[in-house]
Amino acid sequence: MTRVLVLQGPNLNLLGTREPDIYGTETLDEIHAAISGRAAELGLDVDFFQSNHEGALIDRLHERDFDAVVVNAAGLTHTSVALRDALTGIDRPFWEVHLSDPWRREPFRSVNLIHDVATGTVAGQGARGYLVVLDQVAAHFAEGRA
Ligand code: DQA
Repeated sequence: MTRVLVLQGPNLNLLGTREPDIYGTETLDEIHAAISGRAAELGLDVDFFQSNHEGALIDRLHERDFDAVVVNAAGLTHTSVALRDALTGIDRPFWEVHLSDPWRREPFRSVNLIHDVATGTVAGQGARGYLVVLDQVAAHFAEGRA
């Protein structure tokens, strides 16, 4: 079974009450429940990790107990060379998700330090974006086996 780590960055624990006009009203637990449901349909094994701390996210990546990563790096997307280096350093494909579309927001959100090294990116589709990306992950590994 393909093992997928869903890595959630700073402030995503506040989903549900955090700027709902931008990020929606679903909580992170609700989003994770939906991801688990789709993963079961796709035959993917998912694990979840959220942290507000850059180093904790990097340490989790270093565990390398997964085949692929789905990451919403949140604010660190725009600032963290260290997280980018971890994502490229572990030799696992990763997909980038954003609930909002950062490229259509403030100019500083168009600075993205992980986009060019991601296998895929889905942005601006709300929580549904995680499910879209999960389909892409499953297709990627199905092709690899064909
Ligand atoms: C975000 C977009 C980022 O710019 C922001 O800092 C976040 C969430 C999103 O999911 O839309 O925290 O990654």
